[in-house]
Amino acid sequence: MQSTAVNLTGKHLLTLFDYSVEEVTYLLSEAAKGKKMFQNGESSSVLKGKSLGMIFENASTRTRVSFEVGMTQLGGHALFLSPKDLQIGRGEPIKDTANVLSRYVDAIMIRTNSHQTVEELAAHSSVPVINALTDAYHPCQALADALTIQEKKGKLAGLSLVYVGDGNNVAHSLMAVGAKTGMNVTISSPNGYEVDPIILKHAQDAGKQTGAVISLQADPHLAAKGADIVYTDVWTSMGYENEQSKHIQDLQAYQVNDELMAAAHKQAIFMHCLPAHRDEEVTGSVIDGTQSVVYDQAENRLHVQKAILRSVIAHNGITFGGL
Ligand code: CP
Ligand code: NVA
Repeated sequence: MQSTAVNLTGKHLLTLFDYSVEEVTYLLSEAAKGKKMFQNGESSSVLKGKSLGMIFENASTRTRVSFEVGMTQLGGHALFLSPKDLQIGRGEPIKDTANVLSRYVDAIMIRTNSHQTVEELAAHSSVPVINALTDAYHPCQALADALTIQEKKGKLAGLSLVYVGDGNNVAHSLMAVGAKTGMNVTISSPNGYEVDPIILKHAQDAGKQTGAVISLQADPHLAAKGADIVYTDVWTSMGYENEQSKHIQDLQAYQVNDELMAAAHKQAIFMHCLPAHRDEEVTGSVIDGTQSVVYDQAENRLHVQKAILRSVIAHNGITFGGL
């Protein structure tokens, strides 16, 4: 399919399940093209005069900086909006916030605890809303991860990614991106930390289109056997801090360490969305070792999000190559 046939102008990005296989492929290809152009010193001002409102109800290093820098690099502007400064923090409804912001900015990016909040914001926003992490999904991260895997392995379809640890937002979005790209994803979590069964079923159904097998394997060593990618994330996500000591206890057997990496394919890469806790979910020897690609993942947030921003904000039919 020609990439120019895909038109994402005005489309929200709440979860990758809302995107077709062609749309996900398009975003990855635009991100790769944009990255190459950027590295060659070519610039684009396709978002000149455009503004992105960024609502952060939770902390962020990568997401905040990469979205803001991405807008600057595309000639636009980003506004950091903290709920403690917005009237949302004093009880203004999401509906009114969405309607009002839509009159000023060209897109809204939001990081919040509840996925429902993002859905509500999108329902009342006339400009595209981008999910920058909720308790359920982290689609921008999963796209950056897919771009990284494609760069390292030359393909996505047919590869096997094993995610070890807490069945959280990152795990959900990895299942979604696997389903859309033909990459097999196995989730290995202990009892009580499994991925949401509804999202799992959704991913398994979506995977039928690409041949991706999305599965569970509670034993981390069996799951990691022969894997091309070993992925983990924090044991305690934002919003669950009061359960931290229980999580550390319950997830001990799910640490990614040298022994677990030895079960994977010899050429396997290690991935983590960051921030990481060394010697909890991953040992320093693995995350700082030769198989780790975590900083490439972080860099690719910038390139993928620039592709998203240009695709949902800019006018139709322009690809990076044509700028
Ligand atoms: N991976 C990620 O989203 O990082 P931040 O929380 O720093 O944005
Ligand atoms: N699962 C983590 C990801 C942080 C980028 C969290 O939600 O805190």
